[in-house]
Amino acid sequence: MTGFSTTVATSAVPAGASPTGPGRAPASAAGILDCCRALVRPALVEAVEGLHPWVGEMAAYSFGWCEVGGAPVVASGGKGLRQALAVLGAEAAGAPARAGVAAAVAVELVHTFSLLHDDIMDGDPTRRRRPTVWKAYGTGPAVLAGDALFALAVETLAATPGGAAGVRLLSAALTDLVHGQADDLLFAARPWSGPDRVGPDAYRAMAEGKTGALLGCAAALGAVLGGAPPETVTALDRAGRHLGIAFQVVDDMLGIWGDPAVTGKPVHGDLRERKKTFPVLAALESPVPAARRLALLLEAGGDPAETAALIEEAGGRAAALAEARRQVAAVESALAGAPLRARAADDLRTLLEFLVRRDL
Ligand code: IPE
Ligand code: IPE
Ligand code: MG
Ligand code: MG
Repeated sequence: MTGFSTTVATSAVPAGASPTGPGRAPASAAGILDCCRALVRPALVEAVEGLHPWVGEMAAYSFGWCEVGGAPVVASGGKGLRQALAVLGAEAAGAPARAGVAAAVAVELVHTFSLLHDDIMDGDPTRRRRPTVWKAYGTGPAVLAGDALFALAVETLAATPGGAAGVRLLSAALTDLVHGQADDLLFAARPWSGPDRVGPDAYRAMAEGKTGALLGCAAALGAVLGGAPPETVTALDRAGRHLGIAFQVVDDMLGIWGDPAVTGKPVHGDLRERKKTFPVLAALESPVPAARRLALLLEAGGDPAETAALIEEAGGRAAALAEARRQVAAVESALAGAPLRARAADDLRTLLEFLVRRDL
């Protein structure tokens, strides 16, 4: 069978539910993510249904709605962070949650497109606890499905009232994402030490591009569709970019010390691919003797488990956590400088804390 069934279990949005609606008790991060996912899902399903059935099946597989072949299933489809940022961005601007749904659909489509292509670029075999789309369907089909999701995201925004400004924001974010991904790939060929090594500032610029640009865009896009003034849009974009760096630093940590059964992604892949992740770069900058041994081990392409232990011994894990905390402080100050609806801003802060402590 090719194509996915639309009879997949769709979690219903509770009547009148709004992630930040008046009178609601403060929510947990999981509650906020679940509520936003339920709100956005019907529009996301409807958009994906418009794709070529084979391409739509690959998208549905990636979202955790079906197996290879199209049989319905409920599998992990990702945390849904970007869609939540879009919904909260609209609410932070004083609009109802539904005003952010088109933005949420667009950013979730772009995120999935970027993952499909990223897994090919990084050669990773698993994501969301399942074979990656290129492993399950082949590289060519996965490239095509990514292209289709990208086009669908633009189409979704273009068809939304006020969407032209949104298309501009999204395309600027994509340009930054491509810059970040290009640097990420190029950095892999750079040495671990010496004058050509990658420093922490170059890492931050790369992470802001590959991850922060879309998180900033998600919140900003929601705010634009919610009718926010330019200062609010800029503040949310800035907050999302710092959040993206923090998020990527934590992702780097999970790629070294995470549990693949929990993250659903391979461990030590970044080390094997010579990715310039923050914990490694920070460890190499340290003056302790373990840093010198680490540089030698990395150059020799040593055992990943031994390398991970040495990164920790040289202080890379603690430094990465400190960097994530610094970026979170920058998010807080960006949020504090904007006139945001209090409940939505509180929910953004709740998500922030969860994302830095996460283990998936
Ligand atoms: C993974 O993003 C890609 C990065 C930018 C690190 P997420 O960790 O948000 O992926 P899902 O959507 O939850 O699977
Ligand atoms: C992903 O970066 C960034 C994009 C998909 C644009 P990574 O390659 O570091 O993320 P994971 O670890 O594969 O999710
Ligand atoms: Mg990757
Ligand atoms: Mg990558």
